[in-house]
Amino acid sequence: MPDFESIVSLAKRRGFIFPGSEIYGGLAGTWDYGPLGVALKNNLKNLWWRMFVENREDMFGVDAAILMNPKVWEASGHVSGFSDPLGETRFNLMFETKIGAAENAQKIYLRPETAGGIFVNFKNIIDSMHPKIPFGIAQIGKAFRNEIAPRDFIFRAREFEQMEIEYFVRPDDWEKSFEEWRENMLRYIEAAGIDPAKVNELEVPEEERAHYSKRTIDFEFDFPFGRKELYGLAYRTDFDLSAHSESSGADPSYLDEETKEKFIPHVIEPSLGVDRTVLAILCSAYMEDELGGEKRIVLKLKPSIAPVKIAVFPLVRNKPELVSRAREIYAGLKKNIGQVFWDDNGNIGKRYRRQDEIGTPWCVTVDYQTLEDGTVTVRDRDTGEQKRIEESKLKQYFIEKL
Ligand code: GAP
Repeated sequence: MPDFESIVSLAKRRGFIFPGSEIYGGLAGTWDYGPLGVALKNNLKNLWWRMFVENREDMFGVDAAILMNPKVWEASGHVSGFSDPLGETRFNLMFETKIGAAENAQKIYLRPETAGGIFVNFKNIIDSMHPKIPFGIAQIGKAFRNEIAPRDFIFRAREFEQMEIEYFVRPDDWEKSFEEWRENMLRYIEAAGIDPAKVNELEVPEEERAHYSKRTIDFEFDFPFGRKELYGLAYRTDFDLSAHSESSGADPSYLDEETKEKFIPHVIEPSLGVDRTVLAILCSAYMEDELGGEKRIVLKLKPSIAPVKIAVFPLVRNKPELVSRAREIYAGLKKNIGQVFWDDNGNIGKRYRRQDEIGTPWCVTVDYQTLEDGTVTVRDRDTGEQKRIEESKLKQYFIEKL
C-alpha cells in the first residue's frame, strides 16, 4: 500500500494538484488542478464521455447551469433532507448564495449534484430529441457540498466534479438496467486504470441510502486511508420526475408511439466523482521500485489517460543540429498526439526519472545516430527497455499503442 503523504507530495511537487488559495493559507475543502492534473482529469472525462455518450445511440449530453431555481432542490428533497446520514448534526450540506440586488435578493443554492440539471431537462430532451426508451441523459460538471469535515486530500472536497447519467427505463426493466450499469461502471474502472483488485461492491442498507433510492451499490476503493466510496449506482425509481411534476406542473410522462402507452419512466443513476477517480488512479499507479539498480518513483498510468504521452529529448542541449532535429520530431508528434513534452534539462537519466514520476509512458531521445540513419531511441517507462525506431514510423508506432 503506497504511503499517502508521498502521493499528495508528488501531486503538488509535479504540478498535478495544489491546495486551493494556497498563498492565503488555503480554503478548506478546495483544490486547484495544475497543468498535469487538468490534463489527467480531461483525459478521464473524455474517456467517460466517449464510452457512454459518443459510443452509444441512446445517450444525450447536457451542460446545465450550476445555479438553479431553488424549487428544484425543494422538490428533490434536498432542502429538507440533505444532510450527512452518518453525521451527528442535521446540518444541510447545500451551499447557499443570493441572486439579484440586495433588497430583493433571493436565496438560492449551488447544486449539490449534477443530477438536478438533468431531471429538469427531461421534457426538453423528449421534445427536442424524441428519444426511444430506454435512453439516458449524461452530464459532467461541478457540484458543491458544505462538507462538515472535508478530508483526505481530494477525496472529500467542498467543490468537486461529477460525471452522472440518469438512465430512463420502463418501470419493469429497472433490475436489468441496474445490472447493465453495474457492468458499465466496472468497464470504466478498468479502462481508466483503477486497480480492480482494490475495488469492492457494497450493497448499501436501506437506512444508509439517500432518500430517493430503493437500491444502491457503492463501488468502494481501498484508499491508503481506508476502504471508502468511490462511486454510487442508485435506483431512483420515478421519485425525481414525479416530484418535479408535482411541484412544477410539467408533465414527465413518456408516450410510447407504437403502443400509445403513457407512463413515468424509472431511473437508474450511475454517479462517478471525477476527483475520486483521479485519486484512485494515483493510488493505483504510484509505485516505488528499482530499475537498472536505481530506486525510482513511477506512476504506472495507462498511456491513454497519462497527462504526458511522450517526452522528446535531444541527447545534449549544446549541439544545434541535434536540438533542431529533436525539435522537428517533437513538433510533429505534438501536432498529432498533443500531450507531448519537451525536455533538454540535465542528463538523460534524470530526465527519465522526471518522466517516470509523472507517468509518461515513452521517452524519445534524438542522438548522434539519428543524424546518420534517421532512427531515435524509444524508452519504455515500465521496463526501461530501449529500442531504435525509424523517425518516419514514430507517429504510427505511438498511435497504435494509444
Ligand atoms: N446524484 C447522486 C449523488 O450525487 P452521491 O453518492 O452523493 O450521489 C456521487 O455522490 C459521487 O460523487 C460519489 O460517489 C463521489 O464519487 C462523488 N462525491 C460526492 N461527494 C463528494 C465530495 N465531497 N468530494 C468529492 N467527491 C464527492
